[in-house]
Amino acid sequence: MIRKCLFPAAGYGTRFLPATKAMPKEMLPILTKPLIQYGIEEALQAGMQNVAIVTGRGKRAIEDHFDTNYELEHLIDGTSKEAYLQEIRYLIEHCTFSYTRQIEMRGLGHAILTGEVLIGDEPFGVILADDLCSSDPDGVMRQMVKIYEKYRCSIVAIERVAPEETHKYGVIAGDEIEEGVFRVTDMIEKPSPEEAPSNLAIIGRYILTPDIFTILEKTPAGSGGEIQITDALLQQAKEGNVIAYEFKGDRYDCGSIDGFVAATNAFYQLQKSGE
Ligand code: G1P
Repeated sequence: MIRKCLFPAAGYGTRFLPATKAMPKEMLPILTKPLIQYGIEEALQAGMQNVAIVTGRGKRAIEDHFDTNYELEHLIDGTSKEAYLQEIRYLIEHCTFSYTRQIEMRGLGHAILTGEVLIGDEPFGVILADDLCSSDPDGVMRQMVKIYEKYRCSIVAIERVAPEETHKYGVIAGDEIEEGVFRVTDMIEKPSPEEAPSNLAIIGRYILTPDIFTILEKTPAGSGGEIQITDALLQQAKEGNVIAYEFKGDRYDCGSIDGFVAATNAFYQLQKSGE
């Protein structure tokens, strides 16, 4: 049983300036819900009720969001507006939230290592909230837990991308051992189309075994001068201990304006068709 899910949320969100000047990018809403709330709902659906968030300066709004606002509760108590708070109340009741701060931004691998204090010595999920996933009935993390239960090693979610897009992702090479499931043999962070070992790109969903922390401690800075989770995972992959899973569903890169708008439109259509 995987109980914990880590949310690296210390990044600046410069692509969304000025909106992210005083507001965490994880709090940008798709319709009425902040991005990170979608991620936490996905984690909870997968049984991960202990939410661990790596924050940084200027991220206090995240902590306030996952807490009770007594004044607001009092104001809308007994009114029709209470329905708006139903989903967030559910999360607050069913999850625990713990936080630690990343003092320096030294990459995703470093952010995950910073979260070790909240995770300890057990396997855990990682969700990058700006990769918004929608899939029914099982969310991507729940699908990945099923794969973990079978293979008991680190799992990365992957998606096929166009060759000219590989430079935005970690890209894997692997042997397909069952439909959509690959035993990873190689992985490269942000390769050019010429360097890319395939077009199977890692998206922001991971299940990691805790030995990843010791590997991360020894992982030197890689692509972009940052400590990369992809480089640490390659060490596990060399021992045959990483599975890449082609998830079922849709993913929107809400760290880009195009992806954010596409997600907004898709979720709006879904909401309209459900009314
Ligand atoms: C990170 C990872 C990359 C992965 C991507 C998924 O990159 O380093 O391997 O493919 O997330 O969104 P970032 O988007 O933070 O540059």
